[in-house]
Amino acid sequence: MTSIPLVQLNDGRQIPQLGLGTWRTPDAEAAALVETALGLGYRHIDTAAIYGNEAGVGQGLAGSGVPREQLFVTTKLWNDRQGYDSALAAFDESLERLKLDYVDLYLIHWPCPDKGLFLDSWKALLRLREEGRVKSVGVSNFRPDDIEALIMETGVVPAVNQIEVHPWLQQAALREFGVYKGIATEAWSPLAQGGELLADPRVQQLAAKHGKSPAQVILRWHIQLGSIVFPKSATPKRIEENAQIFDFQLDEADMQAIAGLDRQHRLGPDPDTFNG
Ligand SMILES: NC(=O)c1ccc[n+]([C@@H]2O[C@H](COP(=O)([O-])OP(=O)(O)OC[C@H]3O[C@@H](n4cnc5c(N)ncnc54)[C@H](OP(=O)(O)O)[C@@H]3O)[C@@H](O)[C@H]2O)c1
Repeated sequence: MTSIPLVQLNDGRQIPQLGLGTWRTPDAEAAALVETALGLGYRHIDTAAIYGNEAGVGQGLAGSGVPREQLFVTTKLWNDRQGYDSALAAFDESLERLKLDYVDLYLIHWPCPDKGLFLDSWKALLRLREEGRVKSVGVSNFRPDDIEALIMETGVVPAVNQIEVHPWLQQAALREFGVYKGIATEAWSPLAQGGELLADPRVQQLAAKHGKSPAQVILRWHIQLGSIVFPKSATPKRIEENAQIFDFQLDEADMQAIAGLDRQHRLGPDPDTFNG
């Protein structure tokens, strides 16, 4: 496998541009899948407290034999634990399940505007970073005003914003905002959760043109936009396939063809209204 490029973060650290997503990966299957991915050269794993698989992910990290300093592990604070003290306690529990001394990136999973707690949660993340138990701090599903509020209150710009991005929901304005602020965009559900998007005739045509699979074409599109991706798969062959995206280029016409698939279609909740 060709090596995975690193993206520079605004705090001086670097993150592999491709990782393995683990939403809907059962805890009992997570260890084997994480070990498979790490064996194939992946070094970046994305999990979250709400996925219920931090323990399995931690077992896979330990079982892989890959030195800790070569791994990039992200987990996230779930909505019902927002608040300063509560976030600190939730983080301790995540770390215990992962059996790690630190995580590379800790994210506030959703802003949950009605709770009004994300500023307090953010301050807890900053304390964890000071303590060295979190290396980089970021957010997920945050809107520009939420991010401006964090910066106004603490002066600290999140390293990443992890948002829903795929050809059906391209989020050009929010990605541009990230570029302007120096916040890396992480694209969740990069394959639009598999299935229909991958069967689109225009995607199939590009796949045939490049001798690649539809999933590889879509992931390559994200990479060329500069986003960080972590497709989820429970299928070792697909985990391997999803990493073979650094040996071809989409040209301008290909990029435009995918740009034309945007239909402002969300698969997940809307951050404006999700407070769950
Ligand atoms: N921050 C957030 O709010 C948030 C929300 C959602 C997701 N995420 C993160 O983003 C990650 C990725 O998103 P996602 O899991 O929602 O969706 P995704 O990665 O877009 O798609 C995963 C689906 O695509 C299939 N797939 C994977 N590789 C394939 C390939 N090469 N060919 C055909 N099908 C393929 C998988 O099937 P199999 O598993 O059966 O192979 C699975 O059903 C998550 O796992 C999670 O880590 C974050």
